[in-house]
Amino acid sequence: MPRSHPLSVRTAVAAALALQVAAAPSTPPAAPARAGPAARTVELTLTAAPARLALRDGGDTTDVWAYDGRVPGPTLDLREGDRVVVHFRNRLPEASTIHWHGLTLPFVADGSPFHPVPPGGSHDYVFTVPRGTAGTYWYHPHPDHRTGAQVARGLYGAIVVRAPDDPLPASLPEHVLVLSDNRFRPGGAIDIADPASPAGRVDAENGREGDVVFVSGRVMPALAIRSGEVQRWRIVNASAARVYRLALEGHRLLHVGSDGGLFARGVERGELTLGVGERAEVLVRGTGAPGTRALLRALPYDRYIPQTRPADWATPRDLLALRYDDGPPVAPPALPEVLRPVAPLDTGRVAARRVMVLTQHLINGKHMDMARVDVRARLGTTEIWEVENLVGMDHPFHLHGFRFQVLDRNGVPEPFPSWKDVVNVPKHETARFVVRFDGFAGKWMYHCHILDHEDHGMMGVLEVRP
Ligand code: C2O
Ligand code: CU
Ligand code: CU
Repeated sequence: MPRSHPLSVRTAVAAALALQVAAAPSTPPAAPARAGPAARTVELTLTAAPARLALRDGGDTTDVWAYDGRVPGPTLDLREGDRVVVHFRNRLPEASTIHWHGLTLPFVADGSPFHPVPPGGSHDYVFTVPRGTAGTYWYHPHPDHRTGAQVARGLYGAIVVRAPDDPLPASLPEHVLVLSDNRFRPGGAIDIADPASPAGRVDAENGREGDVVFVSGRVMPALAIRSGEVQRWRIVNASAARVYRLALEGHRLLHVGSDGGLFARGVERGELTLGVGERAEVLVRGTGAPGTRALLRALPYDRYIPQTRPADWATPRDLLALRYDDGPPVAPPALPEVLRPVAPLDTGRVAARRVMVLTQHLINGKHMDMARVDVRARLGTTEIWEVENLVGMDHPFHLHGFRFQVLDRNGVPEPFPSWKDVVNVPKHETARFVVRFDGFAGKWMYHCHILDHEDHGMMGVLEVRP
């Protein structure tokens, strides 16, 4: 099968999916909030099935589980207002789901452990992408206890949601960088340790990491840039447990967005830490000279307890080469100072304040029980959640169904509001966020996004009622 360049988002959907886009047939909205392209229906099929792929250039082939035969799965390119219909076909030998990480959608479309799709079964996920939620999201399986193993075999992919009034110039070349890691046995098989083995016990503690790091399914790919050019990178941390402390040699990054899209204005950073499940939008300004190259690296990040910290944790890893072509510099494009308004959620009228205490594999001292409801709330109310990490290891806390705004980390106020659905809570630290339950009623998971911890029950259920 010809493989479209995995880093290029604009080609991916059209090339690889039997994607049908139709203008909405009947009545236009009575009073459109603002002029934009007509609402569309995006209809596509995603099939999860075993496949055999060469994951590393020139390496052995590997038995994987893949969406539409590709690892990562195809990037879904959506617009705010789209009605999305995904026909999921499960051709795996076990139950699975597709969870649309970070999207606001009805409970039955969430692909959580409450709605498993049996082997050989199908399910239609139907949802509408709300206005104001343009950003970078991703999708992955979420069956009870099996998420880590299914993602490790290759099931994950990126989602881009675009706004009609995106403030950044449409002319900026865009790349989606899906970061993942994996581990292989001699011969090429994916190395998933027996849970009873020493390696399996380390994976259960640390979360499974691999020594091979992929950027959108490639090891150390190269991206081309022209001197003066500005590129928009959307970065997704799809790893089961690895945290990426990203730095681009000789460049500063203009950090313009996080999980739920753009900030009010960009922030200059020398480096950027992306916890498990988190996303970032950055602008890379081509300040290098023609013919030079710069490496994107993951710098050491100590998220571990000393007993199971990997021996090579302090070694930086090269992720990607940015290569300047030989052409003369181009004039840098004008960038807007102000991106979009991000209004802080009102913390003055709070229906509840809750504390989530994280210990190893437990939240508030409990393992996940699908038959239990841990937190009850009402639609439309606002709550403040304090996530307290009591142990000597980071835990990334994720909430389904509703986006939130971090208020402070270890008592230090967040400098500006942004939309998040994962907050990494470092060892022995506390983070507080405010969430307004604007969205849909249902039972929503919250959990540690280290997949081994989630699969071991570091998860709870929030029931939101009308
Ligand atoms: Cu990205 Cu409940 O998951
Ligand atoms: Cu999620
Ligand atoms: Cu955890």
